[in-house]
Amino acid sequence: MPATNNGLKVALTGFMGVGKSSVSRHLASLLRSKRLDLDRVIEESEGKSIAAIIDSVGIEKYRNIETDNLRHVVKRDDFQILSLGGGTWTLERNREILRAHGFTSVWLDATFEHCWLNIAFSRKDRPLARNKDGARQLFEERQKIYCLADWHFVIRSGLNSYDIAKQIREEIFS
Ligand code: S3P
Repeated sequence: MPATNNGLKVALTGFMGVGKSSVSRHLASLLRSKRLDLDRVIEESEGKSIAAIIDSVGIEKYRNIETDNLRHVVKRDDFQILSLGGGTWTLERNREILRAHGFTSVWLDATFEHCWLNIAFSRKDRPLARNKDGARQLFEERQKIYCLADWHFVIRSGLNSYDIAKQIREEIFS
């Protein structure tokens, strides 16, 4: 059966380790469309890993770099699915940029323990999640901001990123 695709542009948000990148990969493939990962775009434009950038310039300057890259990326017309960094959506100016460019926002919501397992087993160095207590606090602070997204998908145990991508396609794109 051909994939349905109504041409919407989607920005995936949610906490570190929730699976934004893998959901975006499956979703793009189901929709036969292209995706971008904002973290990857930043790493390519800066020539360093996100962790190296944050460690060298600090989180405030990193947020400015992130917003600059977001401003640039939203003007491109060669992709449909954008996976954000876990903090991108938490800044009002970034939410404004996404809305102004017609993105529908999708919050991938899982428990902290689910995210933490992925963080702990991933090889990716996440400066804002180098210890569990700090990460949990950030997770709790951010819930009220993630829930400003247009759509909310709860990742229940037993669901994998392909299942979530299929749900998103069925609910948002059909
Ligand atoms: C961040 C999440 C990271 C990355 C940076 C900051 C955050 O992306 O953008 O380390 O503030 O939550 P992932 O959510 O892809 O790990």
